[in-house]
Amino acid sequence: MSSLSILVLHGPNLNLLGQREPGIYGTVTLESINQQLLSLAEKLDCKIVAHQSNHEGSLVDAIQGALGHHDGILINAAAYTHTSIAIRDALAAIAIPTVEVHLSNIYRREDFRHHSYLASVAIGQISGFGAQSYTLGLRALAQHLQTQT
Ligand code: DQA
Repeated sequence: MSSLSILVLHGPNLNLLGQREPGIYGTVTLESINQQLLSLAEKLDCKIVAHQSNHEGSLVDAIQGALGHHDGILINAAAYTHTSIAIRDALAAIAIPTVEVHLSNIYRREDFRHHSYLASVAIGQISGFGAQSYTLGLRALAQHLQTQT
């Protein structure tokens, strides 16, 4: 049985995690989040490939490129969550099961963060658990994919 492959996408400014607004996002680095995901993925019998970009088009390219290569997508689109119809449309176009995650609870923050363009094309959303949002999201996605196949 071939193991599942999951594309992990990190949007703009998440490369600065660790030093970026630690009161909101914590002190964990993106590198450390990717390491946590890698070790969890091993336990869940999944492969993961992680990619961060500050550019909307590069995230759209990565989503399109997932077709035929990945079974699921775990995405924190960061600020593009609240602005990007292009990322939403790319996810809708490829129709690969997607889980949306956020470190902070976007509903406890400014009004402009309360709307997600991605939520309606995702299986579900995990928001507010810091770095743990990613590991919870990976577990949810892997379980969804494993029970689906
Ligand atoms: C974020 C929340 C977004 O509103 C913000 O623009 C980010 C990070 C989060 O993980 O909490 O950059 O997606």
